[in-house]
Amino acid sequence: MAKTYQISDGNTSSELDLVEGTLGTPAVDVRGLAGTQGVFTYDPAFTATCSCDSDITFIDGEAGKLMYRGYSVEQLAEQSSYLEVCYLLLNGELPNKTEMDEFRDAITHHTMLNESLVKFYDGFHYDAHPMAVLTGIVGSLSAFYHDKTDVRDPEHRKIFAHRMIAKMPTIAAAAYKHSVGQPKIGPKNQLDYTSNLLRMMFAVPAEEYEVDPVAAKALDVLFILHADHEQNASTSTVRMAGSTGANPYAAISTGIAALWGPAHGGANEAVLNMLAEIGDASQVPKYLDKAKDKNDPFKLMGFGHRVYKNFDPRAKVIRGYCHQVLEHYNMQNNKLFELALELERVALEDEYFVERKLYPNVDFYSGIIYQALGIPVNMFTPMFAIARTVGWASHWCEMMGDPKMRIARPRQVYTGYDLRDYVDIDKR
Ligand code: ACO
Repeated sequence: MAKTYQISDGNTSSELDLVEGTLGTPAVDVRGLAGTQGVFTYDPAFTATCSCDSDITFIDGEAGKLMYRGYSVEQLAEQSSYLEVCYLLLNGELPNKTEMDEFRDAITHHTMLNESLVKFYDGFHYDAHPMAVLTGIVGSLSAFYHDKTDVRDPEHRKIFAHRMIAKMPTIAAAAYKHSVGQPKIGPKNQLDYTSNLLRMMFAVPAEEYEVDPVAAKALDVLFILHADHEQNASTSTVRMAGSTGANPYAAISTGIAALWGPAHGGANEAVLNMLAEIGDASQVPKYLDKAKDKNDPFKLMGFGHRVYKNFDPRAKVIRGYCHQVLEHYNMQNNKLFELALELERVALEDEYFVERKLYPNVDFYSGIIYQALGIPVNMFTPMFAIARTVGWASHWCEMMGDPKMRIARPRQVYTGYDLRDYVDIDKR
């Protein structure tokens, strides 16, 4: 028998259904509450609200666990590849060999950009932040594929997802090339996903470019770890925009805009800037005091998470990977990594951080790897955006295929004036 939940205001009571998933905290279905009890539920910033059912990703924040379609992210990072994870997230199951070959082929053959779209880059100033460029260019894809994208057709949705995953590295690399004034380098079909990205970013027409397999593998692992994170701010933004029936490319651009914020994906760039500002280990206590001071806007970037009240499992994998990558590049004594380790050590012994269960999140160490690979700081968040594109696309596809989908439309508690008369400008 379905479980229910009693709610009462002292006079009338209602029996609300409990919605239970396969794992995790059950939710009270409050949709009928306004009708039966005459109240809405109040949850600014959605700290306790489930906005949908989803089969894609599960987080156990207390235990510090993350899995995609039932597979632990640690195991996927160790044994899988980013493109295989993309298939898994989009389709629900790991591919067999034929399915994987077909998927790789589909992604490989959607990587190029329409030449008219390439002209859009010239409209951006050279010092535009690449995330601003990404938001604009991806939003503009809607102008190219609007008539060819029927959001109700699963086949069209699949082609959209393939196009998006395939084109994001080309779009991001072109944004980088624009910022450094170099000619854009097109995709090369023989290369795997991350090797292709590295080549499009760092090759120049005057020289041969050889992809460093260690760099490609490191990016692949980072991309797996960033691929999805259930109903985070950017994914919820994509779902919300998409719930109106909006063009999916436009919906993805809203996700990119949301990701850019320093409280979300922009934190990877902010961490590196913070470490550079702190400078050396002797300054750590001073900056921890600043982070604890409620009158100081400074926060320890890369620390804390809405859902994880334990170690972010992604941060653990990345920290381990930092050692390998730095060793490969003979950068074992990397000052920023040493500083990050010291900051983590001191913070995790500090009562303020312990009490609030603030641990390093995915962004705390990712920038150290990006920097070791020669990726400039303002491209850190675009790297995250490339990796998260599959998450956004998977959630959008899941939502559009859900017969229960309705336009997302929260309520509010109004705190403004009651009705009042208009006063003529001369009398104010
Ligand atoms: N430094 C110092 N104090 C912090 C930090 C931090 N990084 N994070 C949270 N706190 C404090 C808050 O001030 C609050 O203290 P209080 O209870 O005394 O008021 C308490 O910890 C709870 O934090 P909230 O802000 O309520 O947590 P919320 O869930 O709203 O925010 C967030 C989570 C945005 C990630 C926050 O921890 C933060 O700003 N961290 C730094 C930015 C960051 O690293 N973002 C990346 C997140 S991961 C991702 O999106 C990819």
